[in-house]
Amino acid sequence: MTEDAQRRAMHEYYERGEEADRLIRTGAGRLEFERTQEIVLRALPPSPATIADIGGGPGRYTVWLAGLGHRVLHRDIVPLHVEQVRDMAGNGTAIQTAVADALSLDLADASVDAVLLLGPLYHLEDRADRVRALREAARIVRPGGPVFGAAISRWSARLDGMLRNRIYEKYPEAPELIDGVERTGLLPPLGPRSFCGFTHRPEQLREEFQAAGLTVADLVCVEGGSFLLQDIDDRMADESAWEVVLAASRAHERVPELMGLGPHLLATGVRR
Ligand SMILES: C[S@@+](CC[C@H](N)C(=O)[O-])C[C@H]1O[C@@H](n2cnc3c(N)ncnc32)[C@H](O)[C@@H]1O
Repeated sequence: MTEDAQRRAMHEYYERGEEADRLIRTGAGRLEFERTQEIVLRALPPSPATIADIGGGPGRYTVWLAGLGHRVLHRDIVPLHVEQVRDMAGNGTAIQTAVADALSLDLADASVDAVLLLGPLYHLEDRADRVRALREAARIVRPGGPVFGAAISRWSARLDGMLRNRIYEKYPEAPELIDGVERTGLLPPLGPRSFCGFTHRPEQLREEFQAAGLTVADLVCVEGGSFLLQDIDDRMADESAWEVVLAASRAHERVPELMGLGPHLLATGVRR
């Protein structure tokens, strides 16, 4: 797939508008959201701080951070997502949003206290572009400030797509593409207008942070094996059952043998 075709496919996917409630609609989404929040909170500066949410999508994390008392600069390459954030933010001044590319941001050097980059790294196919996006994040954060970068695990197309979501029933061509995804990291759309991007091995994510001049303070697996539960939606409705799900994700987050099991990896880098 050419770079242009990849970009077009990404825009077509997000223009379906399904991203808006992804993190609250299902147990797997809520697991990703709650775990990402707790991991981010471990290194986030106290409020009020200025946080850049780059590739912030429809703004779930932006709104959460603003609710904690932070000023949030939301940026996304998809205009629909910026419109959705603008609608949610209303006239308050805590959230400022604009269309921007993570590769070339309109924000000044050392102008924010922390950066969330929870999206662009898994939509950039070339290593050079991913390192460039990380360098941009490192440029805009003040020295010592954290950069949180999310990646999709190399094995998630098979574990999440094939095994959990049975995408082969909807997309009969998908099974023959999975070996290639695991070999190269490149994830083409497995069906019409479906998700596409790049999938990381955990150590590859660490290496890209370092290449961008960021010291990796932490690297964790967000969901672990919990996301595979077929009854995860039911467990979400039961507080004590949900706590067991979260505890399992937490317990295995840094076990080297299990790092790539869950669909998301989250690295915390600090500008040197
Ligand atoms: C799966 S969504 C994640 C949204 C949100 N950060 C979250 O974690 O829920 C990935 C987001 O990254 C955005 N994105 C992809 N490439 C980008 C780029 N080069 N610059 C800015 N945003 C980008 C997409 O438009 C999309 O909103």
